[in-house]
Amino acid sequence: MMWTIFLFGFAVLLYFALTHRSRSKTEPPLDKGFIPWLGHALEFGKDASKFLNRMKQKHGNIFTVHVVGRYVTVLLDPHSYDAVIGDSDSLDFTRYAQVLMDRIFNLQLPHHQPVKEKAIMKQHFFGMNLTSLNNAMSTHLKALLKAEIPSNRKDWKEEGLFNLSYGFLFKAGYLTLFGGEQNNNSTDPSSVYEEYRKFDGLLTKMARGTLKSAERRTAHSVRHRLCELLAPAGLSEDSGSSPWLHAYRRLLQEEGADEEMQKKAILMQLWATQGNVGPAAFWLLGHLLTHPDALTAVKREFSRISQMETSETALLDRLVNTPVFDSALEETLRLTAAPFITREVLKEKTLHMADGQEYLLRKGDRVCLFPFISPQMDPEIYHEPQKFKYNRFLNEDGSPKIDFYKGGRQLKYYTMPWGAGTNGCVGKQFAINTIRQFVYMLLTNYDLELCDPNAQLPEVNTGRYGFGMLQPEGDLLVRCKPRNAL
Ligand code: HEM
Repeated sequence: MMWTIFLFGFAVLLYFALTHRSRSKTEPPLDKGFIPWLGHALEFGKDASKFLNRMKQKHGNIFTVHVVGRYVTVLLDPHSYDAVIGDSDSLDFTRYAQVLMDRIFNLQLPHHQPVKEKAIMKQHFFGMNLTSLNNAMSTHLKALLKAEIPSNRKDWKEEGLFNLSYGFLFKAGYLTLFGGEQNNNSTDPSSVYEEYRKFDGLLTKMARGTLKSAERRTAHSVRHRLCELLAPAGLSEDSGSSPWLHAYRRLLQEEGADEEMQKKAILMQLWATQGNVGPAAFWLLGHLLTHPDALTAVKREFSRISQMETSETALLDRLVNTPVFDSALEETLRLTAAPFITREVLKEKTLHMADGQEYLLRKGDRVCLFPFISPQMDPEIYHEPQKFKYNRFLNEDGSPKIDFYKGGRQLKYYTMPWGAGTNGCVGKQFAINTIRQFVYMLLTNYDLELCDPNAQLPEVNTGRYGFGMLQPEGDLLVRCKPRNAL
């Protein structure tokens, strides 16, 4: 008994000796929390935005917190973001991305070539290739809308707006990039969507490693089913998948990834390409439907386009400007895009802040920007930041507004839904075009309204801060029917 107590006491002392960390004068303020090893993990996971706001009140624009055995330096001054985004020598994007790949997708790529992967993506999501992707997306969206809400339908179709937006965009995106039709002649994209939603519901817990045992079993079986559904995607020229997916498959084979790893990698791409667009369209439509002035302004802009003879190609090829829509989308993303921009410190670095302060970052720690707090929700930059104002990004003459200030200085980064720098979102333009197409089709060809005219947008699921687009807690019931149905 004495020995057990002694050994336990010794283990505790050893643990503290090994993990004890104190702040040196040159480092950011350190906040370890009270729980050994876990540190602030519980509060962080429950509502990262609330937690980081509390830390900001306590320590200012830069501080280091202890979370599950790791030290994370959080930087919240947008004037200083370039010091992190621009330094890929000392700060690495790939390592943390690989940790997440392993936790969420159980994916370990043997000879991962992220630079080549990105080059392939850039080649396929810009220029002429982007135009053909936009066209394919438009065709699939139209067909799906027609199939689910036929033009002769006279009664209203009632549905949750989140499910409606996510469902249409996910299925159209899946058909466009992964070629589901030819892949799984017995499987329609709805099955992939249904499985994906189950997976998505557990995603943040997978990333944090906090799944309960029943959830872990569900996560494994859903991941397995999704991998099987995606198995043929990108394999052969006639699989109906996009040229990008073929090229990606070839890269995986070149890297020596076996069949199992290839399927998991394809699932990861499904998440990267489809996980944010649907939720973004939901928040945009939700904000429009709950702000009649905004809805009227966007509809007015769209009706001018629909009167043009070449309305469709004009919209697809961005021959027409839609500043009102663009502003409403930017405002939506300001309020609901909340990614962490995380980098691993590869070698000790002195971080030069815009206010002249300098801080030492330790090798092995992580650095995290959370633009949601600042610039996006910063009251010094945006008046009444919690409110949706569709014309916030418009000047009085109707041109796009891009000048925003903090501390008297113009901001380079006034919103950051797409990240920034070399690791910024490759699919940004495709995503914007897709959302624009979808909202245009819905608002011009269908009547869409709230089932309860006084309904408000649902609350945000606070567990999703840090993972790209936020998702709602619950849904917003809407009804929809073709515009000219008699
Ligand atoms: C509303 C929709 C979307 C949002 C808000 C969004 C946002 C983001 C963000 C915040 C990042 C990470 C930046 C960083 O960590 O520094 C990212 C990366 C990425 N996104 Fe998106 N994204 C969206 C849609 C898409 C689409 C449709 C595609 C592809 C078709 C795509 C492809 C990618 C890729 C490949 C990366 C990784 C870049 C890298 O490895 O450096 N995204 N996105």
